Amino acid sequence: MRTQVCIIGGGPSGLMLGHLLRRAGVDCVILERRSRDYVLGRIRAGVLEAGTVDMLRSAGIGARMDAEGFPHGGTWVAARNHGFRVDFEALTGRQVMVYGQTEVTADLYAAHDAAGTVIVHQAEGVTIHDAGGTPHVTYATKGETHRIDCDWIAGCDGFHGVSRATIPADVLRTVERVYPFGWLGILSRTRPAAAELIYANHETGFALASMRNEGLSRYYIQAPVDDPLDKWTDDAFWDELRRRLPADVAETIETGPSIEKSIAPLRSFVAEPMRWNRLFLVGDAAHIVPPTGAKGLNLAMSDVAYLSDALIRHYGGEDDGLETYSDRALARVWKATRFSWWFTTLMHRFPEDGAFERRMKEAEIDYLEHSEAARTVMAENYVGLPL
Ligand code: APR
Ligand code: PHB
Repeated sequence: MRTQVCIIGGGPSGLMLGHLLRRAGVDCVILERRSRDYVLGRIRAGVLEAGTVDMLRSAGIGARMDAEGFPHGGTWVAARNHGFRVDFEALTGRQVMVYGQTEVTADLYAAHDAAGTVIVHQAEGVTIHDAGGTPHVTYATKGETHRIDCDWIAGCDGFHGVSRATIPADVLRTVERVYPFGWLGILSRTRPAAAELIYANHETGFALASMRNEGLSRYYIQAPVDDPLDKWTDDAFWDELRRRLPADVAETIETGPSIEKSIAPLRSFVAEPMRWNRLFLVGDAAHIVPPTGAKGLNLAMSDVAYLSDALIRHYGGEDDGLETYSDRALARVWKATRFSWWFTTLMHRFPEDGAFERRMKEAEIDYLEHSEAARTVMAENYVGLPL
């Protein structure tokens, strides 16, 4: 098979890149290791930056998001049993959209089905060859080996994919910070604790109250990343969540059985460069952020915006986009990595935090509450910096 762009990975990055390229007449193939059901079964993030919302709408896949998503004009921050609102709309004129990544993925699959995109599921042993010369990719399905010759390869295969590993060790530079805790998350068919998200800093640890819709709540509490999941019965989770949220919220929380429960590690990770010859890295393949700032999906989308534009212009005869892709994407990645690190550090209890660190965090949250300038800094980063 021959195509113009071979996309490795059929998560949000790969599906969105393929959608934008196909709409512009650039031929591509998507190779996904898992089944379609597996990809659609992933429970992931839930907040879309304003730029991501604009991107989905202009790509013709924003209809269900606009019909079923929830525009949020602000979020709540709480500490010492007291919450206050950061009003994005008043401070930046922008909102975010609460709409699950799972839904975005479903909308992308629907668009690809309608367009007849070639998405190979259960593609095994995907291997990148000769990215510096005549790039091609081999893989196997149903025991048969296939080869795809292409002009460019987009590594949209996430943190554990093969693309980043293809870049020679003397070329690739990585920076990582692993946080000393995880997020224990549950999904429950209960009324969300509040109309907007609540990020709570408590002396026993962080908590987040979020939602997917009026009848589906999404909650997280900071927990030891190596805690056995069976230690966290639903009752133990609800008790700890209510301990960490402000009392006026905690006493009205509707509890119920969890329909999904998992502990995820938190890390900040960036790989540079995001291009090596004819291979580009996109999304989680190049960077990971702690979920506190809700940046993971949104950074994947900004990478896709830059790379799709560059590839489409390349086939129109202009190569400057390809030359600048890595620097341009990384400039935004580092700023979002900084914000996610800042918000994670502020809102979580670190093992090494002593009385001084605790008072510094309380003082900064107090400053955030009472300074419009401080809230504006948080708001513009949360709704998303310009592309
Ligand atoms: N061959 C083919 N596909 C692969 C391979 C491989 N060797 N390795 C991984 N994949 C697939 C995975 O099965 C997954 O479907 O690549 C896809 C990568 O998707 P994500 O990990 O979701 O990364 P990305 O598309 O960049 O989206 C980032 O997803 O994980 C969340 O928090 C993250 O919200 C962020 C978003
Ligand atoms: C979620 O709803 O899953 C969610 C929301 C905001 C975050 C992280 C996760 O910062």
